[in-house]
Amino acid sequence: MAQLFTPAATTLFRVVIVLTGLGLVGAGVTAYLWARADSTWNVGKPAPQPVPFRHDLHAGQLDIDCRYCHSTVERAADAGMPSAQTCMSCHSQVWVGASVLEPVRTSFTLGQPIQWTSVHRLPDYVYFHHAAHVTKGVACEICHGRVDRMPKTVKTQTLSMGWCLDCHRDPVPNLRPREAVFAMGYEPHGDELPDDIREFYREASRRLTSCNTCHR
Ligand code: HEC
Ligand code: HEC
Ligand code: HEC
Ligand code: HEC
Ligand code: HEC
Repeated sequence: MAQLFTPAATTLFRVVIVLTGLGLVGAGVTAYLWARADSTWNVGKPAPQPVPFRHDLHAGQLDIDCRYCHSTVERAADAGMPSAQTCMSCHSQVWVGASVLEPVRTSFTLGQPIQWTSVHRLPDYVYFHHAAHVTKGVACEICHGRVDRMPKTVKTQTLSMGWCLDCHRDPVPNLRPREAVFAMGYEPHGDELPDDIREFYREASRRLTSCNTCHR
């Protein structure tokens, strides 16, 4: 019987099959790496802001408490953003005529909020609540990094679902005593948490990882 395909065609066919296989694996690996890469989640990338506000100066050097500007962080879902009035409590006395503060003075005069660009933004279908974390001993630093050293505010974590779940499965190693949640550069001193809290989270991890905790 005559050969249906020439030997060359058979070889070509094999090569194509192998290359297709490699291509699929490569695409899978690329997609996996892409989904995990910090750059995909804008980690470390500052956003353009109307005023060159600096946390390293205000929260670092001047040591102003986070709550002075993010005043609802302990009682609401949103941390809250400072009004122009909050800035003007000092900037009606220091750096008074500075041109970089022009948008602050304009907002203050018009009684309008300053239009800050969000650095952290979850999709609308995700439910997040600041107070639920802060009042249970999850510190700002755990999720936002060393804000007190940032000349420009950036994300230090992906805020991906995998990141939330990593902690929700076992939050205990990330918990601090409540009085330390605003501290930066905090060093835990060994076993600070009472046993009943560890016990509580062994039970709570199922609730914390169920879909409708964050998608409701
Ligand atoms: C004097 C006021 C002030 C203080 C004090 C302050 N912040 Fe801010 N914060 C701001 C302003 C203004 C912005 C918006 C501009 C920016 O992103 O840099 C902001 C933005 C942020 C953001 C990003 C918000 C977003 O839209 O994603 C985080 C996170 C944050 N602050 C955390 C902190 C933490 C933690 C502390 C305490 C260590 C703190 N801030 C202290 C004024 C303040
Ligand atoms: C468990 C992680 C976590 C902790 C702890 C946390 N944040 Fe956030 N923060 C987030 C996430 C996630 C967002 C984005 C929220 C969104 O888009 O709905 C955010 C957003 C913000 C914003 C932007 C405005 C807003 O409310 O959406 C500010 C300001 C902020 N955080 C400040 C703080 C401060 C100050 C603390 C400590 C007192 C703190 N955060 C503790 C995760 C955290
Ligand atoms: C508790 C007082 C206080 C508050 C509140 C405050 N600032 Fe300041 N800010 C200062 C001081 C003091 C300096 C000047 C530090 C220096 O000259 O070294 C300063 C400097 C600045 C500068 C110049 C930074 C630089 O060196 O480039 C900007 C911009 C600024 N502040 C913006 C803001 C904004 C926006 C707010 C409100 C969200 C705010 N500040 C709230 C005290 C404050
Ligand atoms: C570092 C640890 C940590 C990270 C990261 C974290 N959480 Fe949590 N989360 C907790 C703890 C602890 C609680 C409090 C649980 C309790 O005691 O009820 C909590 C509670 C919650 C609650 C309230 C649950 C309820 O039933 O009251 C929601 C909603 C939530 N987290 C959403 C998120 C989302 C969304 C993310 C990611 C963007 C996230 N969390 C990241 C530790 C974390
Ligand atoms: C602790 C909070 C948390 C829990 C629990 C959680 N999610 Fe999510 N989920 C998130 C966050 C944050 C995002 C947005 C970031 C992202 O896409 O990773 C998200 C995104 C998603 C998306 C969109 C993904 C995409 O690529 O666009 C789907 C689908 C989803 N979640 C399904 C689920 C299901 C199903 C469960 C239960 C098995 C679940 N989630 C449990 C926090 C959570």
